[in-house]
Amino acid sequence: MKIAVVGTGYVGLVQGTCLAESGNDVICVDKLESKVEALKRGEIPIYEPGLAELVHRNARDGRLVFTTDLALGIQDAEIIFIAVGTPQGFDGSADLSGVWDVGSRIAAHLSEPKIIVIKSTVPVGTNAELARRMAETTSVPFDVASNPEFLKEGAAIEDFNKPDRVVVGVRRSEIAERLHALYAPFLRTDRPFLVMTPESAEMTKYVANCMLAVKISFINEAANLCEAYGADVNDVRRGIGHDQRIGFHFLFPGVGYGGSCFPKDIRAVIAMARARGITPRMMEAVDAVNEAQKGVLFRKMSAHFSGDLKGKTIALWGLAFKPRTDDIREAPALVLVDALLAAGAVLRVHDPEALTNVCAVYGDRLVYCDRHYGALEQADALAVATEWNEFRNPDFEVMRRLMRQPVIFDGRNVYDPGRMSALGFIHYGMGRPRVASD
Ligand SMILES: NC(=O)c1ccc[n+]([C@@H]2O[C@H](COP(=O)([O-])OP(=O)(O)OC[C@H]3O[C@@H](n4cnc5c(N)ncnc54)[C@H](O)[C@@H]3O)[C@@H](O)[C@H]2O)c1
Repeated sequence: MKIAVVGTGYVGLVQGTCLAESGNDVICVDKLESKVEALKRGEIPIYEPGLAELVHRNARDGRLVFTTDLALGIQDAEIIFIAVGTPQGFDGSADLSGVWDVGSRIAAHLSEPKIIVIKSTVPVGTNAELARRMAETTSVPFDVASNPEFLKEGAAIEDFNKPDRVVVGVRRSEIAERLHALYAPFLRTDRPFLVMTPESAEMTKYVANCMLAVKISFINEAANLCEAYGADVNDVRRGIGHDQRIGFHFLFPGVGYGGSCFPKDIRAVIAMARARGITPRMMEAVDAVNEAQKGVLFRKMSAHFSGDLKGKTIALWGLAFKPRTDDIREAPALVLVDALLAAGAVLRVHDPEALTNVCAVYGDRLVYCDRHYGALEQADALAVATEWNEFRNPDFEVMRRLMRQPVIFDGRNVYDPGRMSALGFIHYGMGRPRVASD
């Protein structure tokens, strides 16, 4: 099939590339000239495991093309995906200006019937409103479908190739059939293809993210409770996880959720609820718990150093909002960075992929270290904010030699408190009792 994908970010680039990989002819459109030029040169603007190789292969074989010219991009496409950003607007609701802009330009250039598919996460009613707006510009028939994206950054290719489910919202069954044909290569192992109304599809995406955010804030609050009463959240987590009604997924305490989706999507749901006179008590609480959680590690550090962090050298491992990505949007680590800088600490930071993005924000206010051990030199403490695999089993002897003081603030419960104590570290976990050092 001939496909256009408008918006070549984490979602659009993965979508376009994976569809090209399954034999479709794909044109990826983005308004950012620099991004498109880089992609044409084979430079991948984001870090996503496995993506570069797929982009290179499909571009080389002519199935994947990049342009800033939307009219050219959509000219021959049968299906046009809209995957532009929908960031948080000034009042918490989703900013849909990118979707409206792309929709109006598609309508202006429509010369034959096409299917427009909204992939971006958008409030319920956006599908209908986009169709209404486009119909004001064009008399050519078109369909607007909704196909929310559920990929996880860091595992996006795998998620695309083996989706838990594909959700499509359509007004005509023929459109579902066309989309099913497109996704068929990815559904071979009986993965569900769920057809519903656009409104239900739009809502499904938000409710899914709300549920995941609920789980994170829930276990974070449980961790804080455990800590206050001397219980170990890791044992409690296992104790509840074996209950099949609860399970183990997404119940790991940490420094709060971040990224380009949960924070803005939770606030968009809050705005959606309020717009219809519903008080979104659960999601307001989830958001509030998360905001508070982002400060927990700093409060522990401040308490350890008796409120005096001025001049202390703090090593920080992990800056991206999660492992296996370079995405730092709303990353909790940056809240910690801001607090430590404000307290006068010197920060030596390391992240396997996100240093360039962080440097673009903080410039020379941080010391950037290519290697994680390098960040530890003369450090008064280490904080771990993102659980990259390479942080899990370091050489603790080397760490002790490099650090001025053997103190670890383990924001992701990467290390076992008992083991750390035996190795002579002062270890602060999340929701885990402290074990006195030998
Ligand atoms: N990132 C994720 O993990 C993820 C997962 C599921 C859903 N989503 C949703 O998918 C959408 C895209 O997210 P993302 O992370 O890929 O965003 P992104 O910011 O990485 O990429 C968006 C791209 O769209 C381009 N763009 C914006 N306006 C444009 C316009 N008018 N014309 C052409 N290009 C335009 C931008 O230049 C950018 O390259 C959002 O609605 C997001 O909520 C994201």
